[in-house]
Amino acid sequence: MTGETVWDTKLVNIDNEVDFAAAARALAEGEVVGMPTETVYGLGCDARNPEAVAKIYKAKGRPSDNPLIVHVADKASIPELVSDITPIAQVLMDAFMPGPITVIMKKSSLIPDCVSAGLDTVGIRFPIHPVAQKLIRTAGVPVAAPSANLSGSPSPTKAEHVMQDMQGRIPYVVDGGECQVGLESTVVDATGNWPQILRPGAVTMEQMEEALHNAGMEKPEVLKQHEAQPGEAPRAPGMKYRHYAPSCEVHILGCGDFDRYEEYYKEAVEREILDGKTPVGLFLGEPIEHEVRVLFADKLDQIRFYNYGTFDNVEEASHHLFDGLRLLDEEKAAVIFAPAFPEEGLGEAYMNRLKKAASEKHEKKDVYPSFRKMLFVCTGNTCRSPLAEAIARHIWKEEPHYMMDHPQIPAEVEFTSAGAGASRGREYTRYSVEIADYEYDEDISQETSTPVSDRIMLQQDLVVCVTDDHSRYLRFKYPEMSDRIFSFKELLDDFFIPEIDGEVTDPYGYDYQVYQETAKQIEKILRAVFPEILKKWRMT
Ligand code: TXA
Ligand code: MG
Repeated sequence: MTGETVWDTKLVNIDNEVDFAAAARALAEGEVVGMPTETVYGLGCDARNPEAVAKIYKAKGRPSDNPLIVHVADKASIPELVSDITPIAQVLMDAFMPGPITVIMKKSSLIPDCVSAGLDTVGIRFPIHPVAQKLIRTAGVPVAAPSANLSGSPSPTKAEHVMQDMQGRIPYVVDGGECQVGLESTVVDATGNWPQILRPGAVTMEQMEEALHNAGMEKPEVLKQHEAQPGEAPRAPGMKYRHYAPSCEVHILGCGDFDRYEEYYKEAVEREILDGKTPVGLFLGEPIEHEVRVLFADKLDQIRFYNYGTFDNVEEASHHLFDGLRLLDEEKAAVIFAPAFPEEGLGEAYMNRLKKAASEKHEKKDVYPSFRKMLFVCTGNTCRSPLAEAIARHIWKEEPHYMMDHPQIPAEVEFTSAGAGASRGREYTRYSVEIADYEYDEDISQETSTPVSDRIMLQQDLVVCVTDDHSRYLRFKYPEMSDRIFSFKELLDDFFIPEIDGEVTDPYGYDYQVYQETAKQIEKILRAVFPEILKKWRMT
C-alpha cells in the first residue's frame, strides 16, 4: 500500500463518547468508517463527496461499477436525495422503514454518479440499528455504504469481522455488537407501479404485497398474469460479482426435509473423511451437532463445528451464516456443509446467500450439489402440473438415489409446479388432489396455484412444461434459461425415447377417469425420462 494512507484502525466502543464523536467527525470530513446496522456492517462515507466514495472502493478492493446504498437516520432526509417517490415507494417506506430494506428510487442531483455507478436511481436505506442511526445523525450527512467486507468474502456481521478485513484500510470501526438479521437488506426496485425484488432479504415480497394491499393498492393485471417481466427486469448490478464466498468449498445439504438431516450429515462426513478432505466444516444446530458428535466420537479431530442454535430455525441460521462461513474457513475446513431451508420467508434470502457461497466451485466439480430443482408448468397450475409434481415425488421416493461419484451422498430433487397463466392461491382441482392421494400416496391438498415468476424460474435446474406452447413461451421469456426448459415431448425427443407419446391432454372439466388417464400418461413419461435426467445431472 505504498503511497497510501495506512491507518491504525481504531475499534470504537459506543460507550466511549470521545472516540464515537471522532468517528462521526471523520465520517463528516470525508473518511470511511465501519458502521453497524441490523443487517450487516457497512463501510460508510459522505454520499455527496466523490473523493470519499473513491476511498470506499479502494478499501473494499471492489470495482467501482457497482452502486452504493445511501443510508439516512430519518425519513425527512429522503426527499432531497431522490427526484421521484412513486406511490409504492411511499408505502414501502411507511411500512418498513426503519428496517432491513433498501428502496430504489430515481435519484436527485445530490447523488454523484460514483454512488449510483452511472444509474439514474439510488437505493435508500434507513437502518433501525440505534448505533447506525446515532452515527449518521451525529455526522449529519447521508451515508453511502456497501457491506464492510473485502470484495469476495462474506459480509461482516460482527465488528471483529470488519477489523479482520479492514485493518489498516480505514480509521474507525464502530462496534455495535452482532448484527441481528445477519443477511443484507432486501433490495427492492420501487420505480415502477409494483415492487421488484433485486436481492431477497428479511422483508419478503409477501409482506410488501400485504402492506400495499392495506394501502389500497393491488397488483396490476398484467403482472398478475405474467408476474415479473424477466426481459425487462433490472438486476442488481452487484449480482454479477461473486459474493459471500469463503475460500473453501461450500456444499448445501438436503432440501429442507429436517427429519433426514442427521443421515445427510453422517453420510457427508463419512465420505469426506474417507476422501481425506479434512477437517470437514459443519454449519449446523442442535440436535444434529450432538448426534454427529456421538456418531464420530473417535474422529472429532477431523471435524470443525459451528453451531447456530436450533437446527430448523431459519432466523438463527441466517443470523449466524456469514460468521459460520468465516469461522470454519479460518479453521481451515477443507469443505463446509450447510443445510438447505425451504425457500419461503427469510429462507429465500438464506438460500440465496448460501447458494452464492456454494456456487462456482460446485459447477466445476460437477458432483455436488446433491440437490436439484425441477419445476412443472401448465397454464393454471391446478390440474396437470400439480399432478406431475405429485407423481414425480412419488417416483423419486420409490428408490433412494445417490450421487454418482459420491455414492454415500443422497441426491435430492425438489419438485414444484407453477402456471404460466395462473393466479395465486387457487385450489388444485379435486380430482388432481384425489389421484395424487389415492394412486400416488402424495398429499397436495394444502398446496395452491402459483404463477410462474422470475424468482421461481431462475432457481430451477429443469423446467418441464405440459405442452410445446408452454415451453416455447417460457423460452421466449427466459432466453438465458432456454437449455433448461422443455415440454414433455421435447424432453422425450431430447433423450431419444420415440416410443412414448409426449401428448398430455388437459383434463380440466372432465371426470375422474380422464384425470386418471392424464396421470398415467405423465407417469409413463416421467419413468422414461427420469433416469436420463439423473444421468445428466450425474445423480445415480
Ligand atoms: O444490508 C445492506 O443492504 C448492507 C448494509 C450495510 O446496509 N449494505 C449492502 O451493500 O449490502 P452492498 O453494496 O454490499 O450491496 C448493495 C446491493 C448491490 O447488489 C447493488 O448492486 C444493489 O444493492 N444496488 C444498490 N443500488 C442500486 C441501484 N440503484 N439499482 C440497482 N441495484 C442497486
Ligand atoms: Mg456486499
